[in-house]
Amino acid sequence: MPAIVVIGAQWGDEGKGKATDLLGERLKWVVRYQGGNNAGHTVVLPDGQQFATKLIPSGILTPGVTNVIGNGVVVNPGALLEELHGLQERGVDTAGLLVSADAHLIMPYHVAIDKVTERYLGKAKIGTTGRGIGPCYQDKVARVGVRFQDVLDEKILRQKVEAALDIKNQILVKVYNRKALDPDEVVDTTLAQVEQFADRISDTRLLLNQALERGETVLLEGSQGTMLDVDHGTYPFVTSSNPTSGGACAGSGIGPGRISVVLGILKAYTTRVGSGPFPTELHDEMGERLRKVGGEVGVNTGRDRRTGWFDAVIARYATRVNGITDYFLTKLDVLSGLDRVPICVAYEVDGFRAEDMPMTQTDFHHAMPVYEEMPGWFEDVSGCRTFAELPANAQAYVRRLEELSGARISVLGVGPGRDQTIVRHEILP
Ligand code: IMP
Repeated sequence: MPAIVVIGAQWGDEGKGKATDLLGERLKWVVRYQGGNNAGHTVVLPDGQQFATKLIPSGILTPGVTNVIGNGVVVNPGALLEELHGLQERGVDTAGLLVSADAHLIMPYHVAIDKVTERYLGKAKIGTTGRGIGPCYQDKVARVGVRFQDVLDEKILRQKVEAALDIKNQILVKVYNRKALDPDEVVDTTLAQVEQFADRISDTRLLLNQALERGETVLLEGSQGTMLDVDHGTYPFVTSSNPTSGGACAGSGIGPGRISVVLGILKAYTTRVGSGPFPTELHDEMGERLRKVGGEVGVNTGRDRRTGWFDAVIARYATRVNGITDYFLTKLDVLSGLDRVPICVAYEVDGFRAEDMPMTQTDFHHAMPVYEEMPGWFEDVSGCRTFAELPANAQAYVRRLEELSGARISVLGVGPGRDQTIVRHEILP
């Protein structure tokens, strides 16, 4: 049985939790491989209960699945505890959650630095979630980060925190005029927090490879999206990790040959949170309508999402960069009731037509969408369970997106519920 990667094809918030949830019963393992508690996955269970997971893989809501926070994830231990307690209070069995010994911890100084840096940047700010994600990944790459395995050895933890704070406190105090953090307090808090889930710290890379050897199905769940990837996204307006499918191997410790399905999650229109270019963004009442009908408010930060029409240039790019084999098109129901539905098929950049993502950010900033309009539909599609039940114009819209995106649209979402899904092609072999 294969490993499957699920990734966001746009700027995140495409509804990845729903895809994981759909495959849930056939999965043995669900792995988060990058990002941290900047993400937010919403899942609505058949009984109507709604859950929003941030750091914990959405497979936690499917009994029998082992959930892994992989080595590529950055973990705020306080946030993890809060999420665990929240799930436990609602009766969710969290026994099957493991945390990689190599995952890095988001420390209090990472959060402090994220916030002051954004303030300092003023108008040029990235619009981060303020959760310390970027500063934590900076420390990881600079080889001064703190991993879970370090917390298991108090002496090492103390050394690492003291060394980190020697420099960070100078930055906090002298550059940003903030209070210094006390190393003992940071160490004690971290120990007290991690102690509560120390039994979950594991060699997840070994366990995942053994599971694949046994023929068990592993789903690797990306957070954020292709356009927020630090290498392939709209840099610098990106997150500090690799949500694209290549990141799944590095962030979990399995080889690329194991991956047989790359499922891209694509919203039937586009949204973005935070700063940065967004060619099809709507600043009018249509944008407001998409935001309202689509419930486009961040699960994690409560920020309004920016909204716009579907951008096929981005979808084509995502197909290529991730090697997408199948798409799950979400939120088709949100587009019901429109006379015409525009699709951005190309850009015009400084007078030239561009079918593909421009090479430079400068050109992407100047990209003007070239629209093709499809006839809309007025029927409520949320009760449709087969493709044939969809209005002819909705079917035509989906077929056109498929043609433009370069990969088959195998599943459609027509509402937030677990059952509000249309399967056109089976994703798992
Ligand atoms: P950071 O990940 O907090 O550093 O934020 C960097 C950028 O990624 C900002 O534009 C955030 O709004 C965006 N971002 C981070 N996580 C998510 C997510 O789960 N969905 C959508 N945007 C996100």
